Amino acid sequence: MIRINENFTKLKASYLFSDIAKRVAAFQQANPERSIIRLGIGDVTEPLPPVCVEALHAGADELSRRASFKGYGPEQGYAFLREAIAQHDFQARGCKIEPDEIFVSDGSKCDCGNIQEIFSADIRLAIPDPVYPVYVDTNVMAGRTGANVDGRYAGITYLESNAANGYVPAVPAVATDLIYLCFPNNPTGAVATKAQLAAWVDYAKRHQAIILFDAAYEAYIRNPEIPHSIYEIEGARDVAIEFRSFSKTAGFTGTRCAYIVIPKTLVAYDAQGRPTPIHALWNRRHTTKFNGVSYPVQKAAAAIYSDAGKPQIRAMTDYYLGNAKLIREAVAKLGLPCVGGDNSPYIWVNVGRDSWEFFDLLLTKAGVVCTPGAGFGKCGEGHVRISSFNSRENVIAALERIAAALK
Ligand code: MLT
Repeated sequence: MIRINENFTKLKASYLFSDIAKRVAAFQQANPERSIIRLGIGDVTEPLPPVCVEALHAGADELSRRASFKGYGPEQGYAFLREAIAQHDFQARGCKIEPDEIFVSDGSKCDCGNIQEIFSADIRLAIPDPVYPVYVDTNVMAGRTGANVDGRYAGITYLESNAANGYVPAVPAVATDLIYLCFPNNPTGAVATKAQLAAWVDYAKRHQAIILFDAAYEAYIRNPEIPHSIYEIEGARDVAIEFRSFSKTAGFTGTRCAYIVIPKTLVAYDAQGRPTPIHALWNRRHTTKFNGVSYPVQKAAAAIYSDAGKPQIRAMTDYYLGNAKLIREAVAKLGLPCVGGDNSPYIWVNVGRDSWEFFDLLLTKAGVVCTPGAGFGKCGEGHVRISSFNSRENVIAALERIAAALK
């Protein structure tokens, strides 16, 4: 008899953003005349930078000619993209990352979700709360947790992020093996200083642990003191994997391109305690299960590193940060405490009441979609996340509607 993976039954019925999309669709169906502004899921609205569009066209043209046609590319990504990434995202910041330590993929959601496959089923997890739900859910699916009791899975050390610690959790008192960190943070928008990240690198070294560092939002950092990469921290090459994405950097949520950095010096241990390079394991996994990102898309991603591309993506992230500033100001005027939005596209608002109730109120009274904090974990209760990913006009309209609805 065919059996299911029972770990899936420990999960909530649907993924957070699917759940929200369903609720919004049901509301729209019942109220077809209402206009809805979406500041929920972090999905970009502004068109691709012109350099990316040109590169997509040029890439497609190459594929149209026999002489320059390409079939399967290297699973890890074309050299031109991996070299540009290593040079501009890392070496330019003093991080010793080589092109062959980069694996190009079709998204950080997939990368963050898939990476756990190469680690043992019985490792100890440290996961922030609130958190991007993919980190938790993929470990639940893999059987690394017990049941969900009162919003918490047995077997996870939750790293609580709250106003008291500035939404940057301190290292736990207990030993763990795999640590998920995300800065600038999704959902809180908090950023971590070099000293704070150095404490995590030190912790990982002491416990022979690995940090999974999600830096999908690094392009939003404006404070020059804040590190963009965990590899800006001394010794991080030996304990950390980093995830990056072109989604929020260059508007690629629909175009799809991202990458993982796995330094060749990074090891995990086998049952006999022998160090084993993680790079080789991931390469085995990646080449077996993934066939590469399409050539025109990789050309488009590489274009952001050109002299013309750099100011274009800066203008795009500035645009969303401009929205974020308006959101912060409007939320402050309403008397609600908030964080984020200055080095991040997300604003984390303390609404002082049930977060799904507040979500429903905004949806029904203002026609504005936010993300209820409880969807990101127990510590998210009482909060909502407002995304700055929308047009300026829509953000201004949404803020007016929210102010009117909360009057
Ligand atoms: C979010 O809204 O948290 C993100 O858009 C989700 C994602 O990048 O998958």
